[in-house]
Amino acid sequence: MMPWRSWLKLGVFLLSFYPAGVMFYKVYRAYVGLPVDLGPDPPQTLALETGQWAIRFLVIGLWITPARYLFNAPSLWQYRRMIGLYALFYVVLHFWVFLFFILQLSFADLGQEIVQRPYIMLGFLALVLLLPLGLTSFQAAQRKLGRNWKRLHRLVYVINILAVLHVVWIVRSSYADAVLYGSLVTFALLYRLLRSQVEAVRKFHLLMVLKGADKK
Ligand code: HEM
Repeated sequence: MMPWRSWLKLGVFLLSFYPAGVMFYKVYRAYVGLPVDLGPDPPQTLALETGQWAIRFLVIGLWITPARYLFNAPSLWQYRRMIGLYALFYVVLHFWVFLFFILQLSFADLGQEIVQRPYIMLGFLALVLLLPLGLTSFQAAQRKLGRNWKRLHRLVYVINILAVLHVVWIVRSSYADAVLYGSLVTFALLYRLLRSQVEAVRKFHLLMVLKGADKK
């Protein structure tokens, strides 16, 4: 029988796919001419929805490490790759909605949008940086890249900052999302900074103790 941890993982996998599944279903209904609730501007609704899920998964991915230590829950570690890949999946969907439904697959318009609208450029940069992380998220790549894997995957901090700036730039009436995601990313970065400082001090103390013991 499958152990409960595997069931839980499958549950998280399916739950994470659910918003995309609903969107695919709605697009399918609209495509075959069935009534569907996608608001007055369906492409915009889809762009906002996919964008929201993209940033949610990015921020959840960023918080897995701090949460693992803060709540002493090492099992959270096993969800890191899945959540990261879902972030990439929703960012790609978001980009696809923009390119396919809003720009009607015009690559010339895409180039112009990227150059002329800074928030599109930031989002696009975040997507471009996220791609190598997704491609190297597997164990074989991890083994091959060795220490560089960790260095490369530190890009998630930059990606999250770019994503927050992208959202802050778009804000029209409510700042709630920008404040929420901005604070979550800031606190995760501060936590990481603080932890690395504490670890450095600990290492320094250990070194001093060992040196002292050596002299004796
Ligand atoms: C990490 C990458 C990205 C994340 C996390 C992200 C997230 C978001 C979010 C949360 C929104 C909704 C903001 C709101 O509710 O007002 C949004 C809107 C938008 N995003 Fe992104 N985005 C990303 C990349 C991109 C890319 C690559 C493009 C296109 C090249 C793009 C184009 C847009 C557009 C056009 C909107 C506004 C839709 C509208 O109001 O009509 N985004 N994005």
